[in-house]
Amino acid sequence: MADTWNNPDKFNREASQWDENPRRRALALAVAKAIIDAVKPAKTMRALEFGCGTGLVTFEIAPLVERLSAIDTSSEMLTVLQEKKSISQVKNIEVSSIDLSSSSEADEHDQSFELIYSSMTLHHIADTAGFLNRIANLLSPGGIIAIADLDLEDGLFHDDPFEKVHHGFDREKLSDQLKAAGLQVQSFETIYRFEKINRSGITAVYPVFLVTATRVH
Ligand SMILES: C[S@@+](CC[C@H](N)C(=O)[O-])C[C@H]1O[C@@H](n2cnc3c(N)ncnc32)[C@H](O)[C@@H]1O
Repeated sequence: MADTWNNPDKFNREASQWDENPRRRALALAVAKAIIDAVKPAKTMRALEFGCGTGLVTFEIAPLVERLSAIDTSSEMLTVLQEKKSISQVKNIEVSSIDLSSSSEADEHDQSFELIYSSMTLHHIADTAGFLNRIANLLSPGGIIAIADLDLEDGLFHDDPFEKVHHGFDREKLSDQLKAAGLQVQSFETIYRFEKINRSGITAVYPVFLVTATRVH
């Protein structure tokens, strides 16, 4: 049972089997495709992925950008990513354990990026508005943020009823939070419908959105 926000134990336990779930792989590919279509990653871009996990999205985006900083708070997820990198042709991924939801770690992160993206991670971060402010500050002018996550859900998506997560996001509220972080929302679209047997044992469909927003100044 995870009764604190982002307890890395859960992801550490799941890391070695993470990629074996075909639904998860399909979602990651759909997210990567949607990011590629919306953002058109280029070889001039430095990219940051927060909550990269085992790199299911990472390995789709990295070949398209100059370099990709892949960060996560689960050491085991990052170990799997490193192992995959060691046998991959894709070498421009820098893997690090950083929690940008902590103000001290965010302040130390002095690089800037033309692209910051994530998949299914924002709902694990308690202070959405504060976090968006921090990552907006890491964007270079003209840079773009692309976040894929769940629309507001019934609270049954996660198997552990005690896990502290946001039960998806209200699009209007998230848009307001992005604007308050100094970003201009470009697009907000449904990119996938994730079907799973939820905690009540019912097969339910959970829509996943991709929101993109740019830093104007
Ligand atoms: C649902 S998983 C998604 C992983 C990956 N993006 C994927 O699509 O397979 C969420 C990931 O976010 C990471 N995470 C949660 N909170 C985080 C934070 N504050 N900073 C960085 N990573 C975080 C977790 O360790 C986990 O690997």
